[in-house]
Amino acid sequence: MIVSAGRLWLLTTASSGYVVRLDADDTPRCAHWGPPLTLDQARDLPPGAEELPVEGGERFGVPALQLRYADGVRGAEWRFLGEELDGERLVLRLADRHYPLEIGLHYRLRGEVLERHTTLVNHGDTPITLLRCDSAAWSPPGREAWRLTHVSGEWGGEFRLRRTPLPVAETVLTSRRGHSGHEVNPWLMLDAGEATEAHGEVWSTALAWSGSWRMTVRREHGGGLTWSGGHGHDGLTWRLEPGGRAETPVFAGVYSPDGFGGASHRWHDYLRDDRLRPVVYNSWEATGFAISPGQQLALAERAAALGAEVFVVDDGWFAGRSSDRAGLGDWHADPGRFPDGLEPLADAVRALGMGFGLWVEPESVNPDSELARTRPEWILGQPHRRATQVRNQLLLDFSRDEVAEWALGRLDHLVGRYGVAFLKWDMNRPVTEAGDDVWIPYIRNVYAVLDRLRAAHPGLLVEGCASGGGRADPGMLARTDQIWTSDNTDAAQRLAIQHGYGHLYPAATMGAWVTDSPNAQTARITPLAFRFHVAMAGALGLGGDLLRWSEQELAEAAGLVARYKEIRPVVHRGRLDRLGEHAVQYSHEDRVVVLICRPSTLLPATAPVRPRGLDPGAAYRDEDTGAVHHGAVLLSHGLPQPLPFDATSTLTRLRRLR
Ligand code: GLA
Repeated sequence: MIVSAGRLWLLTTASSGYVVRLDADDTPRCAHWGPPLTLDQARDLPPGAEELPVEGGERFGVPALQLRYADGVRGAEWRFLGEELDGERLVLRLADRHYPLEIGLHYRLRGEVLERHTTLVNHGDTPITLLRCDSAAWSPPGREAWRLTHVSGEWGGEFRLRRTPLPVAETVLTSRRGHSGHEVNPWLMLDAGEATEAHGEVWSTALAWSGSWRMTVRREHGGGLTWSGGHGHDGLTWRLEPGGRAETPVFAGVYSPDGFGGASHRWHDYLRDDRLRPVVYNSWEATGFAISPGQQLALAERAAALGAEVFVVDDGWFAGRSSDRAGLGDWHADPGRFPDGLEPLADAVRALGMGFGLWVEPESVNPDSELARTRPEWILGQPHRRATQVRNQLLLDFSRDEVAEWALGRLDHLVGRYGVAFLKWDMNRPVTEAGDDVWIPYIRNVYAVLDRLRAAHPGLLVEGCASGGGRADPGMLARTDQIWTSDNTDAAQRLAIQHGYGHLYPAATMGAWVTDSPNAQTARITPLAFRFHVAMAGALGLGGDLLRWSEQELAEAAGLVARYKEIRPVVHRGRLDRLGEHAVQYSHEDRVVVLICRPSTLLPATAPVRPRGLDPGAAYRDEDTGAVHHGAVLLSHGLPQPLPFDATSTLTRLRRLR
């Protein structure tokens, strides 16, 4: 609910309150972000920090809006123009006191989440240079200490959770890579050092942007904390032409009075839909680039027998693509490997009862490709500068509309011609040589192609990927169904990756394959059930070389896929509670599923894993043993533990009795 009271606005959700107020000089300030307040209480608040800190006056913090007018003057001085209030949406329209710049502060409540973004309009006849235009700045009430929770990582080791005390300083989280990044992910959580998984106040924000971004958190000597975030990285500038309008991505915020778990619940509710994701088989780890119709069909037959619902041909199917040195850009079936085209394989996959899926990397081009030879002017680069190749490839200049149109045309053709049900959209290199005016329109065109492709093919599922989890963010998730979380599919290592991923993103969006053991990532042999139990915590897929699996393994795997399908509605639609780094609980309607995966004997593992949120007065039946337990006993004493050996796991299914 949003209430407007003169020069004060009160935005209230079931468990949070946010108060914006205008100073006497029209500067907008956040007077409160925390538990809900009444209007009377809101009138009593101290002034608070700025909603969108600008340059000028006695401001020495990090500016959210940094601009230069044509005459060299910088900064802004506020003038309030008016409000637009429409249900759960509020726009505060402001302008510069002197220059013809209009600034809109946008708010929208969606459940427990407050979405914010900023718009600028240049009403003058000279350009304005933007050095920084953040989506929003956030400021909780002051506290003695502050602690930052975020993820960091690398290729093959994304989403590692970090929790560190904040120094009295500016702390920057950023990606300068033109995608949201393996190194860090565009969200953070802040608490006063006291919050736990289920208790205490946590403030969290996430940016819906899939390109470069920056968030700067500033802890002040006196306990104050503000952070500002938005798209673009340091050193880029944009021009706002006369008559031009700029709109930032959404930077959304959550206040949780019930710990980090409570923050995750609110994010999951916001980012989740009700659809169950299919069991996908993907051939990449099994075959690499060496693919053939016969081998793909043999894999498809085994995948179908295990219960896979979609069969995805990964890299290597298109013209010239026998290694990563050639072919990107030439999106038609390789005539050597698929002399009859992809239709026979696609039809055979459908005849086996599965959807047909394809891997694509539409933004990239190998110098050794027809596309690079015929359209060199489409390749992203800068005059007089080297063209950096990563994985032997360059990027197309997706900021150009004709390039985006071409990509849409190719994808639309592939999806239509082969009846593609599932597209894995990859992006295997960062942006390097690119002018200032490329970075933001590039991502907007990636979004536009995805949006238009999906509008034209409403049943199409899309998996977002950038060398694993390099481009996972709420912007990508708004137009993809799931994310390929990491190229690291070793189940034990995956636990930490999934633990971090799940802090923001719902389980249904977390692509997780069961692969061979050992595989390219680990020499360790991990039991099949353990590998399945780890992958069942998300959108389970299969990625092993099924042609090498024994009859016994195939039979066990088929049983585990069936078991997964049985718990899938609880995992994909339920509330996720983390019961430690190696145990997750999903609760949906009258059902509870707990997965405990114990990767190593080196971990202290004897403490009981206690479920959360059960009704102490209710009874719960263990659906596997038939035993009936009291909620109160389970809450106090926990669940049966896996054996104290390496890579042991349990799946517990409980159903609440009346
Ligand atoms: C990236 C992806 C992998 C696979 C390869 C194919 O690395 O993350 O899953 O699709 O590309 O080249």
